[in-house]
Amino acid sequence: MYREDAADDRCHLKVPDLSLSTLSADYQLKKNSVDIWLCHLPDWLDNQANFLSQLSDEEKLRSQRFKFDIHRNRFITSHGFLRVLLARYLNVEPEDIDYKKGKQGKPYISGINSADLQFNLSHTQDVAILAVTKHTEVGIDIEFNDRKTDWEGICRRFFNTSEQEALFSLAKEQQANAFFDLWTRKEAYMKVLGMGLSLSPLDFTLSVFPEKPELIRHHSTRFSPLEHVDFCPVKLPNSLSSYCATLALASKINQCRIFSFI
Ligand SMILES: CC(C)(COP(=O)(O)OP(=O)(O)OC[C@H]1O[C@@H](n2cnc3c(N)ncnc32)[C@H](O)[C@@H]1OP(=O)(O)O)[C@@H](O)C(=O)NCCC(=O)NCCS
Repeated sequence: MYREDAADDRCHLKVPDLSLSTLSADYQLKKNSVDIWLCHLPDWLDNQANFLSQLSDEEKLRSQRFKFDIHRNRFITSHGFLRVLLARYLNVEPEDIDYKKGKQGKPYISGINSADLQFNLSHTQDVAILAVTKHTEVGIDIEFNDRKTDWEGICRRFFNTSEQEALFSLAKEQQANAFFDLWTRKEAYMKVLGMGLSLSPLDFTLSVFPEKPELIRHHSTRFSPLEHVDFCPVKLPNSLSSYCATLALASKINQCRIFSFI
């Protein structure tokens, strides 16, 4: 199976069983190290009221805009989870964290207590993933490998010719997995740059499985590339075998610890 074979040695699954009240991780981040946190959102439904009370007014407003409870609950839990964890790194209360947004919407922590902490959040279906690091930009993306997706159509529309060629030259049974993997690589790159939707997935070319994730070319003339981007495939727990995730960092990744609530 692809992710087992290609999993990067720098990414380790560290703590398989955690609860918020007994979180005992070491919240010290070394240079060029990343912590990744995984959360199965429905497991935290009992904590909703508490999470909601810790959100900012803006987050509360956003949560009210969801039409369906399931989406509202996912939003509240992932943002509550984010606040609780970031608060541990910063040694503050979750409700005291103050976010600002970059020009294209990338959230970051502001204020003198930010300690140069950087983070990025991704959620899909019932799962949220958070990457935390220091002094360097980070992007992370997780996707559910939904076989109902018209992945071939999306591939032709959003991936460059060389990416399509690499993907469609794979054995038929590998192509769908490679598609979702490339999707997470693409989004992680867009997120480390902080560009959101203003950068097209056609504006840059990435390597495709079985190659390790890397930037082949940044074509955009509108937005400058970063001086350095390092990618890491995230080794997910077996229970998430239908998901894939990629991390991107604006400097060399030496170590990546994964803490799982799943
Ligand atoms: C932010 C973006 C890059 C990813 O969104 P997404 O995949 O729907 O959602 P994810 O769950 O992975 O990430 C969302 C989180 O990223 C963060 N985020 C928002 N804007 C961001 C930005 N400009 N850069 C980095 N992170 C950002 C936020 O924490 C957000 O969480 P929230 O919405 O709960 O506040 C968005 O611009 C997007 O939808 N891009 C689509 C790109 C595309 O066309 N892909 C096609 C195949 S490559």
